[in-house]
Amino acid sequence: MDSSLLSEIESFFESAPPLKDRAGIADKLKEFIELNSPPSGSSRRRIVCVTSGGTTVPLEQRCVRYIDNFSSGHRGAASTEYFIKAGYAVIFLYRRGTYQPYCRSLPDNAFLECFEVTDESTVQVSEPHSEAVKSAIRDHHAAVAGGVLLKLPFTTIFECLQMLQMIAVSIRIIGPNAMFYLAAAVSDFYVPWRSMAEHKIQSGSGPLDMRLVQVPKMLSVLRKEWAPMAFCISFKLETDSKILLKKADMALKKYEMHAVVANELSTRKEEVVVVTNNGNIPVYRDKTQAGSDVENPLIKLLVDRHSAYIKDSGT
Ligand code: PMT
Repeated sequence: MDSSLLSEIESFFESAPPLKDRAGIADKLKEFIELNSPPSGSSRRRIVCVTSGGTTVPLEQRCVRYIDNFSSGHRGAASTEYFIKAGYAVIFLYRRGTYQPYCRSLPDNAFLECFEVTDESTVQVSEPHSEAVKSAIRDHHAAVAGGVLLKLPFTTIFECLQMLQMIAVSIRIIGPNAMFYLAAAVSDFYVPWRSMAEHKIQSGSGPLDMRLVQVPKMLSVLRKEWAPMAFCISFKLETDSKILLKKADMALKKYEMHAVVANELSTRKEEVVVVTNNGNIPVYRDKTQAGSDVENPLIKLLVDRHSAYIKDSGT
């Protein structure tokens, strides 16, 4: 790998504040991987790491202000549900406060809107929401109790990439049965921790002049060093449809991804294009079905591609 990229990556991790509860996260990962892919035994599941939501870049160590990347987390949450349905175990690496698997159809203020207090002062689910609440609780409990969903929250770019590295290195042992589905919107620029102001930046001293350093793309190191056998899907988001496919194709080749999911901001819930070395495959939401998602056919396609990849790798 390019040595200058390696040193940029090293300096990114060196400059990051220590990850809180690193040991606890490592234990959870170990337990989850052992449960779903025991070293001996035939009941091995495939494991996918789904990244979801946007990362923040703090501007102060005692952070009051930050730069944010757009992502509601809907793509990641919906995809997680379809991966679990397809028999995968999912490590859901998500931005705190974004959409969660199985809760997508609940209203924004679910707690306040879905429940009502009856005459006897007991709390019950109000009728229009009763089915949605029941299935959210039932499906979420089934995934957690079945040991097929591990949720790891992040807020900053530092936390997200530190955990991504931990996950990748931990699931390397399952070889081609691992998949990365990198739907999170990851910041491209950051302030290194050591050069960051400790306290709230004061506004009295006039315009703010601040230098942001480029976040190294982690895709190459993920593919080449952290988990070289894993099946890797990255995403490309653009607002200008004229450049979207070209940029996705460049990412496919540059980072040696197995596929890049290209999406345009305004149509991302209706259609995506899966860009591969063997051509581009458009995927559409089934508009004839109420409540359908584009993630349903997308995950079916990627699961098939992953199966072919595992078969080709001879395991
Ligand atoms: O969450 P929703 O509202 O449902 O929207 C979904 C989505 C539009 C956010 C999602 O479908 C999507 O496109 N996610 C990726 C958006 C993005 O930020 O793309 P990018 O061009 O910055 O990054 C491309 C890829 O490189 C990503 O897979 C990212 O994980 C990776 N990356 C990015 C920056 C970086 N420093 N290192 C990386 O590895």
